[in-house]
Amino acid sequence: MFELRPPEDDGLYIPEPVGEWARDKHYFLRRYIDAFTTSMKSKPWSSLHYIDLFAGAGIVRLQDSGDLDWGSPLIAAQTPNPFDGLHFCELEPHSYEALRQRVARIRSGREPQILHGDANEKVGDVAAKIPTGSLSLAFLDPTGLHLDFETLKVLAANRVDLIIFFPDHLDALRNCQYVYRDNPSSNLDRVLGPGADWRAALDEASKRQWAQVLRKLYCQQIQQLGYTHFEFERIYAKRHPLYLLIFCSRHELAAGLWRRVSSTKPDDQRTFDFNARG
Ligand SMILES: C[S@@+](CC[C@H](N)C(=O)[O-])C[C@H]1O[C@@H](n2cnc3c(N)ncnc32)[C@H](O)[C@@H]1O
Repeated sequence: MFELRPPEDDGLYIPEPVGEWARDKHYFLRRYIDAFTTSMKSKPWSSLHYIDLFAGAGIVRLQDSGDLDWGSPLIAAQTPNPFDGLHFCELEPHSYEALRQRVARIRSGREPQILHGDANEKVGDVAAKIPTGSLSLAFLDPTGLHLDFETLKVLAANRVDLIIFFPDHLDALRNCQYVYRDNPSSNLDRVLGPGADWRAALDEASKRQWAQVLRKLYCQQIQQLGYTHFEFERIYAKRHPLYLLIFCSRHELAAGLWRRVSSTKPDDQRTFDFNARG
């Protein structure tokens, strides 16, 4: 399995520290990228692409330990079986600039696409660079409810497997009653997309079921984009649920790969419970 030596402080900008749970996120991503690039290289795709629309600065600092960890775009940039194309987008100017410089130091070969701006506006520029006949993996890791459903729709027009960080506990459940309910174009409405009547669905369920209701609604919406296989992983911060990682694909081959790599958890405990609860 592809391992990376932890990064050193390179003097470039590193954003505010993030929770230790970011290690878990990077663990699943690194393992899946390794399996994906290894196994899909031998399949008849014209090329393999990696898309990271909420890319960050490339290195993160962890809150409790102070350790540095590679961020998602630089994990993808250092995989032993390189992607044919890397496509990054970042909104925050300091992170964007640090990412640009870090990528230039690490990556030789084909020039990556690195965009500065709102992912929901730039996604068309990314999709335009994805060749027909290629296979892509999109890692979609917003801090809150910032990934519009319309953006998924643009990505889904190509053959793209998705790893989505859905901030259900972190944002949706925290804000649905008092922030989003009375606003028909709220972040939750934009993320779930047209026709997802989350207000009625939550009203019909007990509060304990709300996370499951949102997960079901979101997956039903994504199914309409042609996705047929869904896998889940719960991401906790100090035992509190934060995000639901949702893996979406149109093929059993990719879903099977995900199940295989995610069956070994970050704490190295083998588990056979493939579906996150709640
Ligand atoms: C959770 S962090 C990403 C971390 C990164 N994926 C990693 O694993 O290292 C989310 C990033 O998205 C950026 N961001 C927030 N809203 C955005 C938007 N609308 N478009 C693009 N980037 C955005 C933030 O500045 C932040 O760097």
